[in-house]
Amino acid sequence: MSTDDGELEASLEGREEFEPPEAFVEGANVTDEGIYEEFDENWPECWAAAAELLDWYDDYDQVLDDSNEPFYEWFTDGTLNASHNCLDRHVEAGRGEEVAIRWVGEPTDEADRAITYKELRSEVNAFAASLRDLGVGEDDVVTMHMPMIPELPVAMLACARIGAPHSVVFAGFSADALATRMNAADSEYLVTADGYYRRGDPLDHLEKANDGLAGVSHEVSDVVVVDRLGDDGFGHDLADNQHDYASLVSEHEGETVEPVARDAEDMLFLMYTSGTTGEPKGVKHATGGYLSWVSWTSQTVLDVEADDTYFCTADIGWITGHSYIVYGPLALGATTVMYEGTPDFPERDRLWEIVEAYEADQFYTAPTAIRSFMKWGSEYPERHDLSSLRLLGTVGEPINPRPWKWYYQHVGGGECPVVDTWWQTETGGMMVTTLPGIRKMKPGSAGPALPGVDVRILDSAGEQVDPGEAGYLTVHKPWPGMLRTLYKNDERFVEEYWSEYSDEDAGEWVYFPEDGAGIDDEDYITVLGRVDDVMNVSGHRIGTAEVENAIVGVEGVAEAAVVGGEHETKGEAVYAYVTTEEGQEGTDDLRKRAVESVEDAIGPFARPEEVVFTPDLPKTRSGKIMRRLLEDIANDDDLGDTSTLRNPGIVEDIQQHEQATD
Ligand code: WTA
Repeated sequence: MSTDDGELEASLEGREEFEPPEAFVEGANVTDEGIYEEFDENWPECWAAAAELLDWYDDYDQVLDDSNEPFYEWFTDGTLNASHNCLDRHVEAGRGEEVAIRWVGEPTDEADRAITYKELRSEVNAFAASLRDLGVGEDDVVTMHMPMIPELPVAMLACARIGAPHSVVFAGFSADALATRMNAADSEYLVTADGYYRRGDPLDHLEKANDGLAGVSHEVSDVVVVDRLGDDGFGHDLADNQHDYASLVSEHEGETVEPVARDAEDMLFLMYTSGTTGEPKGVKHATGGYLSWVSWTSQTVLDVEADDTYFCTADIGWITGHSYIVYGPLALGATTVMYEGTPDFPERDRLWEIVEAYEADQFYTAPTAIRSFMKWGSEYPERHDLSSLRLLGTVGEPINPRPWKWYYQHVGGGECPVVDTWWQTETGGMMVTTLPGIRKMKPGSAGPALPGVDVRILDSAGEQVDPGEAGYLTVHKPWPGMLRTLYKNDERFVEEYWSEYSDEDAGEWVYFPEDGAGIDDEDYITVLGRVDDVMNVSGHRIGTAEVENAIVGVEGVAEAAVVGGEHETKGEAVYAYVTTEEGQEGTDDLRKRAVESVEDAIGPFARPEEVVFTPDLPKTRSGKIMRRLLEDIANDDDLGDTSTLRNPGIVEDIQQHEQATD
């Protein structure tokens, strides 16, 4: 720890509350605290305020149609197009020369790109025409398996333009994971890239995408490949149904594709996310509600204005990138910064260099990154002039007060509000956070629910917990950005999210996001983390079942139990406890194969930190694996009462095996 961190601790340690900085409040988008009451009294009509941020072709009849709970519909019979809202209307308003995307590639000797709204619109048009030409029709799902290159938002907006929902699969996902998602969505089209740069080296992505395609069980009509690497490429030949992106776009250059009028409830995109079972969930988002939600929250929470330069470090392959790199900021006409690489390449000040170079107004990142920044030291942000920043944000996992304060002080200079935003893939956008121009901040607590959002913390009997006690986070009113269903699986949608706390007979529908949380006497919510079998590794959602399935598939492995253990920077790390088949030893080779199998099934980001071989797994008398106990073992926590185990002696065994692998 450097001295200034010591001073920081001394000066901020005792502080549990921070008022919104005055300079921020003066220019903030929302400063009237009456908004909370106003939205409560005028619910659900209050959400017209979100829809008003968009251009509609046909006005909607009803803000909310709740006649078929929990299949809520928002802005019914309204029609709009997301691509028009993110592009055309800004160009038509005379803002065509403003920069839409500021793209920074990882190699430092490569020129950054500034893509204006007009340029973006024309490339989106050309690519939309290309997709049509390939046969993509309205409602055909187009999968994208792409790194952080401008062609990814271009492809998303091109799909939106022709009413083809996209399903973006994070580039770090393995070939198998890509195939699973294409199969689940019946997707016949893929947009991908030859590769990208990671820590200075070109990385072959197309090989993986091709392996994935080989695992798709239906016919894939067409694949579009972006040539990202040029001369650094790996020399793959394109197959007959594979097309070079640049050639397609140049063939269709100058063409105009009229944006298709989509019903507010028509699907804008699908995003697969992890749940309790091994099967990823296809979260379906609707055009009108989602776009309204991300626009409204970008404006009220991130304080984005049209002339802002806004920088979010997420990957577009996850929901944060969809909502708060692409759709929210572009719908508001701002400049959104996209960075291809990692924060520590070539040096640990890369992100600060970008903030300084483009005078970013907002910076939105994840606690796992903030913990790394803190570990690297304050000299890195100090090398740069970060005074352009006016707001900081965090998302993805709980943030402890210490990294929060470090961020506030060393990145924000004590002059930027920090919004700790709780939300999920399923919620589409932010749900719980302070409104930065109104509410004080309490490090470690995300804050109150947004106006019009009804969050309550319940105990297992469904009663609201007292301040200071922990319970389950629940949402008691629908909101426009909510998922509409799980793709082709309405039953699982109701089962996963609406069965735990709803009282169907009384007509009370309660959304359960499967997070634990506490609340204080000012209604500030502290999110504790997932209560289902989903881990949060560096902000990536990974299901324990997905990892277990991969390990159990390895020859010689009998059983596997996977838990998330605490980790200094990742938040959680994957710990695997494995039993072997008769006659099979727990060798290094088997361990290696187990790790490889996880990388193949999911991706390197899900790689187990440790694989511990044990003679047996701790089980209840009914044979259920005691994950909690394994978590306590992984964390060296007090194990409490283990006498209800069928095999209590096993605990000591596991601990010994774990020490042996340390
Ligand atoms: C966790 C990411 C605490 C939570 C946008 C949630 C958080 C899961 C926060 C969703 C936060 C997200 N504080 N925990 N500010 N934000 N989470 O779907 O457990 O990738 O359920 O969406 O991340 O992860 P997802």
